[in-house]
Amino acid sequence: MTPSESYISIRNVGKKFGDFEAIESISMDIREGEFFSLLGASGCGKTTLLRMLAGFETPTRGDILIDGQQMNDVPPFERPVNMVFQSYAIFPHMNVRDNIGYGLRRLKLPRAKRNDMIDEMLELVQLQGYGDRRSDALSGGQRQRIALARALILKPKVLLLDEPLGALDKRLREQMQVELRRLQRSVGITFVFVTHDQEEALTLSDRIAVMSGGKVLQVDTPDGLYERPRTREVAGFIGSMNFIEGKVLSRVNGHATLGLSAFGEIQVDAKQIGFVEGEAVPLAIRPEKIELLKEPSEGAVPGSLELKSYHGERSYFQVRVDGCDDLVSVSTQNAGRAKLRALEEGAAVWLKWRDDAFIVLDKN
Ligand SMILES: Nc1ncnc2c1ncn2[C@@H]1O[C@H](COP(=O)(O)OP(=O)(O)O)[C@@H](O)[C@H]1O
Ligand SMILES: [Mg+2]
Repeated sequence: MTPSESYISIRNVGKKFGDFEAIESISMDIREGEFFSLLGASGCGKTTLLRMLAGFETPTRGDILIDGQQMNDVPPFERPVNMVFQSYAIFPHMNVRDNIGYGLRRLKLPRAKRNDMIDEMLELVQLQGYGDRRSDALSGGQRQRIALARALILKPKVLLLDEPLGALDKRLREQMQVELRRLQRSVGITFVFVTHDQEEALTLSDRIAVMSGGKVLQVDTPDGLYERPRTREVAGFIGSMNFIEGKVLSRVNGHATLGLSAFGEIQVDAKQIGFVEGEAVPLAIRPEKIELLKEPSEGAVPGSLELKSYHGERSYFQVRVDGCDDLVSVSTQNAGRAKLRALEEGAAVWLKWRDDAFIVLDKN
């Protein structure tokens, strides 16, 4: 990304709490208007990074710039950001309008102007008609909308959202995801969104930073993370994945031949491979990129079906292949596949793939 495309620039930012290094050294750039997510397991440093963007924590080292302006010494209330928390932090005894308008009070706006702004927000988060209700009389989803409206009414350039949907049950969360995406599109501001839920991150984001242990492992589009994870850790974190080790047998004319023991040989583009002959190559392949057959076929590897599970739209099959320690996970769409679904556990099956379905991971 060129410096002019970067709206939020995080440069070698680290954070220590005493001796404990919560963030090691993170550098990344976020574009204006982007829906950007920080994704990672609990404790990996997502909230700490978000709080440094908000100004609630001071980096131990490094710089944060927003819209070209150095933020290090700018206090939270002077930063062009606002934050939404998982616990909505709205005032239960106040009605919806007063909650949404809370941040406007110190701006000393004329009453009519303030009311117009609140009306606009009520419409934006689809709470028209709820303005005079007490906030504690509303559902979790509605309260989260109030929290969003209260943050957005101040027209921040950046909205920071720390697991804002985490307290909602699955159905409501899915509804609010759609809502949040629509909201972000219609206001056009930059969202930095924290979640530990990979599906949520994939559905909502323009780009995602996958974090682990205070580090960023990979920053990419949802598609890029799914199709081209660079490391085993990222590949295992997003969706399900089979891991297989290959060995470089030869490199000729831009192609490398890899030996996969029980799985035969595959050809890959040698450019992807920084490996030399004889070296081990970590590979990964998605369950849906493997074809499951009931009959032998040229190039197909034989195995036996150990387990199958039905997931509505798809079925998952765990296949034992001789000479391979791990079961191979295969998934197929159910529509039009009645014969595969009818396979009994213990049945003989064959597996087939295209060579380019394999992802070559980085050496560790
Ligand atoms: N104020 C603090 N003092 C000491 N340790 C902290 C503090 N805040 C966070 N940590 C530690 O830093 C790590 C990252 O925390 P956090 O950013 O909250 O992770 P996440 O939001 O990804 O779950 C955790 O190990 C946490 O215990
Ligand atoms: Mg957190």
